[in-house]
Amino acid sequence: MADQTDNQSVRICERMDKIGRKILIMSGKGGVGKTTTTVNIANALLAQGHTVGVLDTDIHGPNVAKMFGVEGGLLLDSKDGVSIEPVSPREGLKIVSLSFAMEDPDQAVIFRGPMKMSVIKQFLADVNWGPLDYLLIDSPPGTGDEQLTVAQTIPAMTGAILVTTPQQVAILDARKSIDFARQLNLNIIGLIENMSYMVCPHCSEKLYVFGKDGGRNLCLEESVPFLGAVPMEMNLQQTEDEGGNWIENNPSSASAKEFMDIASYIHMSTKPSCSADIGYIPQNDSCSPASCASCSQNCPSKKEG
Ligand SMILES: Nc1ncnc2c1ncn2[C@@H]1O[C@H](COP(=O)(O)OP(=O)(O)OP(=O)(O)O)[C@@H](O)[C@H]1O
Ligand SMILES: [Mg+2]
Repeated sequence: MADQTDNQSVRICERMDKIGRKILIMSGKGGVGKTTTTVNIANALLAQGHTVGVLDTDIHGPNVAKMFGVEGGLLLDSKDGVSIEPVSPREGLKIVSLSFAMEDPDQAVIFRGPMKMSVIKQFLADVNWGPLDYLLIDSPPGTGDEQLTVAQTIPAMTGAILVTTPQQVAILDARKSIDFARQLNLNIIGLIENMSYMVCPHCSEKLYVFGKDGGRNLCLEESVPFLGAVPMEMNLQQTEDEGGNWIENNPSSASAKEFMDIASYIHMSTKPSCSADIGYIPQNDSCSPASCASCSQNCPSKKEG
């Protein structure tokens, strides 16, 4: 048993060492836009030339596949009988969700905590992610088993992105996510205020449906970087239901521009982690002693060796 656990940890290290940045997307409250943020930042990073993996750790309510236009069914395959092949709906994008292992998409997954932890670890250890610039990890609301497993299992996590609406009950829960990240020494890349406002289609006035600046003020109070304010968009949910690419289809919308800016900021403000032992192969980022703190001494020489 101990051997099996050790082997799994080694496999997780080997897989994760080939991925530049590993980012958990989380929120205290449900329905504030974590999956929307994950999918749109993934699409923005892809549009900016990066390769992206998306892991859906929302075991009970997985929405990632549908928002990427991949319908459920038994889609997880293995070429060698050992590794799981991720689903790749477009070039540069790899996604994995438990929904790909369910024959009936309407079937409820009734798992206790240890089962969920085991599934997430298996996805980290056994999915053939290959070299990627980013792994974005979508999560259910709260600070439970899923977030804890990700934070404690993935070595050299880049950090967490928190999502909230400006509403005070959402802010209350967002504070708990900040506390969770701090207790686990998980770097907080920043907070996104989603559904910040909507523009009236008749008079173009900004309407603050969920209150104004709740997320921005929380960032000031807690000294957390504010990544941006994403407005509510009339047709965004329909695009997501149809699995369309909002950023590609509506590049001039305020939300698409905001997601693109946020993706650029994430890329500029974080560094890829890489392993001296496994040999991280950079895709778009240059990994050198100057740019990579975690392998400053021996990354290039080990790679050559
Ligand atoms: N900026 C936005 N404008 C319009 N609709 C949005 C926006 N952000 C999210 N939505 C819609 O709000 C709903 C909730 O979003 P989403 O599923 O991304 O939230 P979530 O935090 O992942 O939810 P859960 O906690 O259930 O996982 C969806 O119908 C989504 O299409
Ligand atoms: Mg979600």
